[in-house]
Amino acid sequence: MSSIGHIIEFETMGDERGSLISLEWERNVPFVVNRTYYIFGTKPDVSRGFHAHKELEQIAICLAGSCDILLDDGFQKKNFHLSKPDQGLYINKLIWREMHNFSHNCILLILASKVYDEADYIRQYDLFLRHVADGSHDD
Ligand code: TYD
Repeated sequence: MSSIGHIIEFETMGDERGSLISLEWERNVPFVVNRTYYIFGTKPDVSRGFHAHKELEQIAICLAGSCDILLDDGFQKKNFHLSKPDQGLYINKLIWREMHNFSHNCILLILASKVYDEADYIRQYDLFLRHVADGSHDD
């Protein structure tokens, strides 16, 4: 499993009435969800993100439409194209993320391990690289 981010496949419980996906701590979500939010009303030429978090873990799920999420652990970058509601992108702490190529109908749901805290954000890329370098000295 790559440390830069990975896709969690969610089991779909479907029948003739439609589909249902359940998100549950320890079953398919590896942290207690303290906050959720969703991004919508997006535009293809408007990108978002451009930050990392000191402690926050997140899962991004594209409920409708599509988008690209570029993850960067300070050493390598990897792009994930999200377009399926049965796939979640796990994003660990200390991962720089950029969100690009939103379709006009995109609805991106985010599960977050902590409540909103501006102090947890790292919004400058050079500062992010310093945090990564400091962290790699810990072990
Ligand atoms: P921002 O972090 O810029 O969004 P993105 O990561 O998509 O680029 O957040 C947009 C605004 O919403 C900003 O003013 C902070 C605010 N906000 C909250 O108040 N609570 C939240 O949980 C989040 C994610 C953002």
